[in-house]
Amino acid sequence: MTFPTVRLLRNRQTKELRNILAETALHKSDLIMPFFINETLQEKKAVEKMPGICQHSFSSLLPEVERIVNLGLSSVILFGIPEEKDPHGNVAFHSHGVIQKAIQEIKKHFPHLIVIADCCLCEYTSGGHCGIMEEGKLNNDATLASLQKVALSYAESGVDIIAPSGMMDGMVQAIRAGLDAHHHEMVPIMSYAVKYASQFYGPFRDAAGSSGDATVDRKVHQLDPRQSREAVREALLDVEEGADYLMVKPALPYLDMIYQVKTRTLLPVVAYQVSGEYAMLKLAAKQGLFQEWEVFYETLIGIKRAGADLIISYYADEIAKRLN
Ligand code: PBG
Repeated sequence: MTFPTVRLLRNRQTKELRNILAETALHKSDLIMPFFINETLQEKKAVEKMPGICQHSFSSLLPEVERIVNLGLSSVILFGIPEEKDPHGNVAFHSHGVIQKAIQEIKKHFPHLIVIADCCLCEYTSGGHCGIMEEGKLNNDATLASLQKVALSYAESGVDIIAPSGMMDGMVQAIRAGLDAHHHEMVPIMSYAVKYASQFYGPFRDAAGSSGDATVDRKVHQLDPRQSREAVREALLDVEEGADYLMVKPALPYLDMIYQVKTRTLLPVVAYQVSGEYAMLKLAAKQGLFQEWEVFYETLIGIKRAGADLIISYYADEIAKRLN
């Protein structure tokens, strides 16, 4: 049977019909809000390249967390900017480090908020490298020992989920073993399993102060955008190493990978709508090219339709406002 007996427009005639037929939904509980905490600040400071986003001081953090809790969001991911960096990024596992303190403060006041901590060295090494460098080369295995210590210090501070983002071989296995050896076997790992070497991280490096020096070349550990089967291998290896969630990042240019990870594994899939995606839409909306809320909603629905169960987005609070 076909036209004119079949008419697809019948089901699209009214908002009510479109609503009851909607296949994809976006809920507040799907969204994870990122926060930057800068321990050198007395008050919050706007991030120039990300309109609407701030680096927080310890005093501006809690009111802001309270605001997003009141909006009905249930989870946050934290990034820290330490006062001092060192060549090996050892400040990252200091027991009174910026993230360790932030986790404790947030969990003390908002025990039900899910606190996720990004676990990488790039914000803590003086060169901005995600790992330990030796004679100009990334030492993957030496980096694992540091990541174990960082993850353990986050767990001891009361974090709910550890999110290793450095794309080191064996990072999930190492962190799992380190946590388990210290009785943190119930702390889940959200692995940045499929993380591409992307231009879209540009504004983040400004926000997190992790641009680094001229020798930083993340292409030696992050995925090449021309790869897709290698990305699936990354995801499958992380499943075997004991990951509890798999992340794909960035989101919009990699919807095919969100779909593949969803269909080829059984783990919850997290997509990260990264800083460059946020800034691009935000700036274009400011120029009048798009309706801001509508364009963000459309991209987030697209990311969910591709298979994401959860989405990290700098626009999470604005979406929550409108969904209320
Ligand atoms: C690494 C990390 C990065 C992002 C999240 N975790 C930066 C990088 O790999 O250079 C990027 C997130 C974004 O662009 O919003 N700690």
